[in-house]
Amino acid sequence: MDLERLEGILGRFDGLPADLIPVLQEIQDSYNYLPKEELNIVAQRLNVPLSQIYSVATFFKMFSLLPKGKHVCRVCVGTTCHLKGGQRLAESVGHRLGVDIGYTTKDMNFTLETVGCLGSCAQAPVMMIDDTYFARVTVDKVPKIIKQYQK
Ligand code: FES
Repeated sequence: MDLERLEGILGRFDGLPADLIPVLQEIQDSYNYLPKEELNIVAQRLNVPLSQIYSVATFFKMFSLLPKGKHVCRVCVGTTCHLKGGQRLAESVGHRLGVDIGYTTKDMNFTLETVGCLGSCAQAPVMMIDDTYFARVTVDKVPKIIKQYQK
């Protein structure tokens, strides 16, 4: 456990139960997931039951209890994207990366997720890698997109 890093995060807050979500956000941003040992300390310091922390951590999609890859690839399978091949696109990305949807590659470079809607339905099918949008993605464009993020 990286206690110094955690203390740096906790030190920016008042230590109140109301700080829970912002503290979890900072831990997520810093570690790329919510490590178990760190959550135990957060529970003590904010005086929030661990069960409540896990309930928050599993409710919000922005939190992950498992380490995520360096790049997070989100493929939209919302209604519009689904109708335009979103699911097939997600499977194609998974095939290219050699990972199932919801999982992280062995080299920790990519996590592949599907999402309900990325808010760009007019450009369906849509996918994102980190903060970059890719619009009207066809299966044949996948290798070129992925290549930009490979080590
Ligand atoms: S359904 Fe895919 S961006 Fe809205």
